[in-house]
Amino acid sequence: MSEPMRTRRPRLSRRIALKAVLFGLLVAALVVPVAGYSGQSTAAQSGELEVFSWWTGGGEAAGLTKVIGIWKKENPSIKFVNAAVAGGAGTNAKAVLAQRLSANDPPDSFQGHAGAELQDYIKAGDLESIDSLYKSAGFGKFFPKSLVSQIRYRGKLYSVPVNIHRANVLWYNPKVLKDAGINKGQLKTWPQFVAALQKAKDAGVIPLAVAEQWTNKHLFETVLLATLGPAKYAALWKGTGSWTSAGVKTAVSRYQQLLTFTNSDAASLTWQDASKLVVDGKAAFNIMGDWANGYFTELKQKPNVGYGWAPVPGTAGVYQWLSDSFTLPKGAPNRAASIKWLTLLGSKRAQDAFNPVKGSIPARQDANPKLYNAYLKSALRDWKTNKLAGSLTHGVVASNAWNTAIDTALGQFLQSKNPTRFQSGLAAAAKKYR
Ligand code: GAL
Repeated sequence: MSEPMRTRRPRLSRRIALKAVLFGLLVAALVVPVAGYSGQSTAAQSGELEVFSWWTGGGEAAGLTKVIGIWKKENPSIKFVNAAVAGGAGTNAKAVLAQRLSANDPPDSFQGHAGAELQDYIKAGDLESIDSLYKSAGFGKFFPKSLVSQIRYRGKLYSVPVNIHRANVLWYNPKVLKDAGINKGQLKTWPQFVAALQKAKDAGVIPLAVAEQWTNKHLFETVLLATLGPAKYAALWKGTGSWTSAGVKTAVSRYQQLLTFTNSDAASLTWQDASKLVVDGKAAFNIMGDWANGYFTELKQKPNVGYGWAPVPGTAGVYQWLSDSFTLPKGAPNRAASIKWLTLLGSKRAQDAFNPVKGSIPARQDANPKLYNAYLKSALRDWKTNKLAGSLTHGVVASNAWNTAIDTALGQFLQSKNPTRFQSGLAAAAKKYR
């Protein structure tokens, strides 16, 4: 009696084991494509995908909405949760994100700028590397090497760039310039620019529209680049240049001069408010990233009619760049959905839907140029031929902590208007955080 029992039992358990193996293989067949980042998995996916960004305003929300539209169509069973926190340049969002990360409450994916800002998150251990996704989706061959190097740390890749923005753009209202007798062909040198601002002032319009403090930092970084040139500008961030130099002193004094041409209500305005002053004919110029081009498009303004552009005087031939990228946080509640999201963001279809609306050129080099307006066509050309310089305000060249120290120095300067103190504040920030 006991013999057959003994022989039957193992047979039964072998059958169960076999079934378990077959079941396991089936599950693996369904799950592996996701774990392997193919993004093409047919496995039923559900739950939510929470995406964190700061794109809530004019032009920016419109770009995000385009991608969300594709997501919803392709993933009807995964609810998209838009966790965007308002505030240009991520001023508020980054603080909220820092709190969530320190409370171990990450979203499924969050926005971070390629460069030093992203490196902060990587070094803090907040992100998973996504090398396998790059491999399976073949992203590596589509993104420019210069950009990929900014999202790599110790040989591993950490985010998917969705775009490339340009920071050093001087936007203007062609009609206002004409009425004020300003020749748009003569905006190349600093003296020409100052003369143009004076003409605008004499014509009774705001010469140079600015908004809340980060837009002042944006303005200042472009002046720094214009004054020093790309090599010396880069040296400041690498630690090989001097913040106490005569060049930085000149940049501070040029910036101070620009402030005499700006609107007095700047602090209470958003970047969109300041850009709108230009297309409304109330201001002649605004220096802003090319998300302004996205906003102008949303306002139904035509390039070269409602608005014109030029490199910030002194920066012709230089592309001061930044890139919005999205991440896979460690502990993302819906990791599989996050990987699908990142796969979508890196795709040609998503980049060509997002960027013409957002006002940026795509990070992918195989995008369809026909979809991009006259401004963006010029940006696509310049990106290929210009020298590159990274943006400070938008996370390329300095860490979050260094940026915050510069914010403090700038905030004090906007009150005190003391250039010497501003320059020593900048030098102290570099000494501490470089
Ligand atoms: C930048 C961001 C852009 C745009 C801008 C204004 O930091 O990279 O995509 O959103 O802020 O909010």
